[in-house]
Amino acid sequence: MSKLFEPVKINGMTLKNRVVMAPMCMYSADKQGRVNDWHKVHYATRAVGGVGLIIVEATAVEAHGRISDHDLGIWDDEHVAGLSEVVKLVKPHGTQIGIQLAHAGRKSEAEGTPVAPSPIAFSDRYRVPKELSRDEIHGVVRSFAKAAERAKQAGFDCIEIHAAHGYLINQFLSPLANQRTDEYGGGHENRFRLLKEVVLAVKEVWDGPLFVRVSAEEYADGGNHIEAYVFFSALLKELGVDLIHVSSGAVVPYPITDYPGYQVPLAEKIRYGADIPTAAVGKITTPEQAEEILQNRRADLISLARVLLRDPYWALHAQIALENNKESVPVQYQRGF
Ligand SMILES: Cc1cc2nc3c(=O)[nH]c(=O)nc-3n(C[C@H](O)[C@H](O)[C@H](O)COP(=O)(O)O)c2cc1C
Repeated sequence: MSKLFEPVKINGMTLKNRVVMAPMCMYSADKQGRVNDWHKVHYATRAVGGVGLIIVEATAVEAHGRISDHDLGIWDDEHVAGLSEVVKLVKPHGTQIGIQLAHAGRKSEAEGTPVAPSPIAFSDRYRVPKELSRDEIHGVVRSFAKAAERAKQAGFDCIEIHAAHGYLINQFLSPLANQRTDEYGGGHENRFRLLKEVVLAVKEVWDGPLFVRVSAEEYADGGNHIEAYVFFSALLKELGVDLIHVSSGAVVPYPITDYPGYQVPLAEKIRYGADIPTAAVGKITTPEQAEEILQNRRADLISLARVLLRDPYWALHAQIALENNKESVPVQYQRGF
């Protein structure tokens, strides 16, 4: 048996394999942020395709925290029904399903005023955000907790807090975006405070698997590097977070040089440095590449994004390639494989 198709248990959630569908915004919701047929077909197809865990795209905890006016939303109770339909379509295939809870902060291009730790625009193309007051920061924390409650009502197996890619929580973590002088800015522990409060508030209402997605390298002078994220990840472990989903970049608009497996060393450093399970992501496209990462214990889960847009049946092909095993192919499709 391959390592990729060895089941794994994370805080009570058993994954049938280690293939994760990374969160990917589809920008296909209506302006109210509701699920529609696109989302249902898109996620159910990857479940038929044998993925072990689907993480639903960045879903906004506040309306003005959307990246675009067409992001999925979870800021209102009316979102629960649609999200639960996605869950219902995915679960019969033995795939577990999580949701990424997100707030875009200064990178919001949606209606409303973007907010951030400090009034610094992401780039010339973006609006200057409004600096959040302390009370407003507490409001953001409550929005994440309410969203987690709704995720639970919708039947999700797992929650991922989006603290990566330069969105609101990442803006607080980064000295490049956070120039506050109160207890939410300054040293590492102050910049970590919002994430800590969000994790604690979510854990009040959610006792299932909890992931945090981070950008473990900011590729910019004066920004956070991997050492900071080993430190943050150790704190997250103490707070009861189960896994770090290790991405990088997008805090400032600098280009990133990417190549196959370019973020795997970051996942590896966090896994050992903070002694916490990690998911590796970024230009992992072949079953052999995924297997090497797991065999060498560089990460615990393999997260795939674009390759699953090209090939929703990637996991079925991978199990055939690694094990010559067609047992995951749905009986209706057996003649095609
Ligand atoms: C269409 C698209 C939408 C994305 N949306 C999100 C998102 O909602 N949340 C997130 O954390 N990352 C998002 N990402 C980043 C991916 O999850 C992933 O980290 C990145 O594409 C690198 O992995 P890959 O090389 O397997 O594509 C998105 C990527 C793509 C291509």
